[in-house]
Amino acid sequence: MIVSPSVLSADFANLQRDVEMLNASSAQWIHIDIMDGEFVPNISFGLPVTAAIAKHAKKVMDVHLMIINPDRYIVDFKNAGAEYLTVHFEACTHLHRTIQSIHAHGMKAGVALNPHTPVSVLKDVLCDLDLVLIMSVNPGFGGQTFIERTYSKIKELKQMILEGGYNTLIEVDGGVNGDNATLLKEAGADALVAGNYVFKHNNPLEAIETIKNC
Ligand code: DX5
Ligand code: ZN
Repeated sequence: MIVSPSVLSADFANLQRDVEMLNASSAQWIHIDIMDGEFVPNISFGLPVTAAIAKHAKKVMDVHLMIINPDRYIVDFKNAGAEYLTVHFEACTHLHRTIQSIHAHGMKAGVALNPHTPVSVLKDVLCDLDLVLIMSVNPGFGGQTFIERTYSKIKELKQMILEGGYNTLIEVDGGVNGDNATLLKEAGADALVAGNYVFKHNNPLEAIETIKNC
């Protein structure tokens, strides 16, 4: 299992310390949540902080844009160190063009789906996607309760990917912990984001191991 700890739950006043903790962990990715106070009711951090994290991070930079009009910032996030760049389906009028642009800038392209958005909307772009991020909470905040309906969405998406013969990864984000990781893996998840479960755990390295070995 790919583990992508979300630095949204890190201590922002000790960000380098927390990034170095992740470097020393068995996590493969590092999840960066960008919020604009417009697409979601919260503001997190933006480009300079992403670049500062990238300077120290030895893990794959997995950037999740919860912003309207993400097309405006694709080149900036490339320059800030993003390797996977994920935009929201609900924020893109010309999603296919956005995906093309992410690829043209040398990044892997992901699309995130809010809990209310069915996976079927991705049918005609799935062949172009490196990643689908299924939100298992309503985006905007860490520490929310996992939505149980997510399992069936993952299964449905996995079926679509297998039928098409694609290599698209399924990532799940929100309320992931040591108790639901195994069920998420069984449903078809390839990567799990975890914020609170990792950073509020008394042993974050162990929390990461638990998810990785689920
Ligand atoms: C929520 C963010 C998540 C968040 C997950 O909008 O996209 O990445 O950090 O946090 P937890 O794991 O605490 O639910
Ligand atoms: Zn996220």
